[in-house]
Amino acid sequence: MPLLGLVSEPFFAHIQLLYMLLVSLVVTLPRLVLSIVLHPSEFLNHPHAIDNFFHQYFVIAWAYFAPLIDQWSGPFRERLLKRAKGVVLEIGPGYGQSLKYYSRVDVKRLVLVEPAAIEEPVLAAAGVTEGSVDAVVCMLVLCGVPGPQAAIEMYRRLLKKGGSMIFVEHVKSADPGTVTWQKWYNKYGWKKLMGDCDLTRETGQWIIHGARGPALKIDSAADTNGDLRSVDGRWTEYSYEKMGPPNVWSPCPNMMGYAVKA
Ligand SMILES: C[S@@+](CC[C@H](N)C(=O)[O-])C[C@H]1O[C@@H](n2cnc3c(N)ncnc32)[C@H](O)[C@@H]1O
Repeated sequence: MPLLGLVSEPFFAHIQLLYMLLVSLVVTLPRLVLSIVLHPSEFLNHPHAIDNFFHQYFVIAWAYFAPLIDQWSGPFRERLLKRAKGVVLEIGPGYGQSLKYYSRVDVKRLVLVEPAAIEEPVLAAAGVTEGSVDAVVCMLVLCGVPGPQAAIEMYRRLLKKGGSMIFVEHVKSADPGTVTWQKWYNKYGWKKLMGDCDLTRETGQWIIHGARGPALKIDSAADTNGDLRSVDGRWTEYSYEKMGPPNVWSPCPNMMGYAVKA
């Protein structure tokens, strides 16, 4: 590999993340400060003032980033969401970036759930009970959901047999050096500024095999693309693939896939 490639590949892998952090500060801070100045009591009297500050920060920042991220993730979402049929539950839809990709014909009922409504009793009140859902959709959300492994198991319980879990998520890197960077970003700003987003979650692994299953070999050619057969009885079929060009140095490797409940 030419020297320039050796230097530039790792560099560009990190640029996306640094760009998001920097731009989020530029885009968000002025609006947030103005809002605090204009409505100080809403911020200062809030029972969790600091957490609320960072929550508001992410709400403003994501309004800016969501359409940009859709520019590259749109084709992947479109391809995957063709599988969403019948009763569909989308976890954390944010500004509704996925809505335009759902089929008006195939989707009979669409339930959108943001964090406050994620408890099972609240879902039950919306008619979402165990074995009642045809598709659960998670788009860039499991990195920030508290207790992700338990949440994944709950979403799986909500699925009917033959129902699909559909996801686009970023995951822990397969490269130990890059994991060090991911931990470093988490600690020094990323998690706080990006809505509790944890760069080191093994989300794909947890979906496909559960917390204690065998490791997914995401960097082996065989596992990178295509359909694989599940061996542990959780799913009858699954697909798990990388999005975009492979770059082992990326601190934010994105995966997409689906799994069909056994
Ligand atoms: C990075 S944004 C992604 C939004 C949207 N899915 C998209 O693709 O643009 C993460 C979203 O997850 C939501 N979220 C965070 N924790 C959640 C939870 N426990 N349950 C449901 N949604 C959650 C946030 O409110 C936010 O809307």
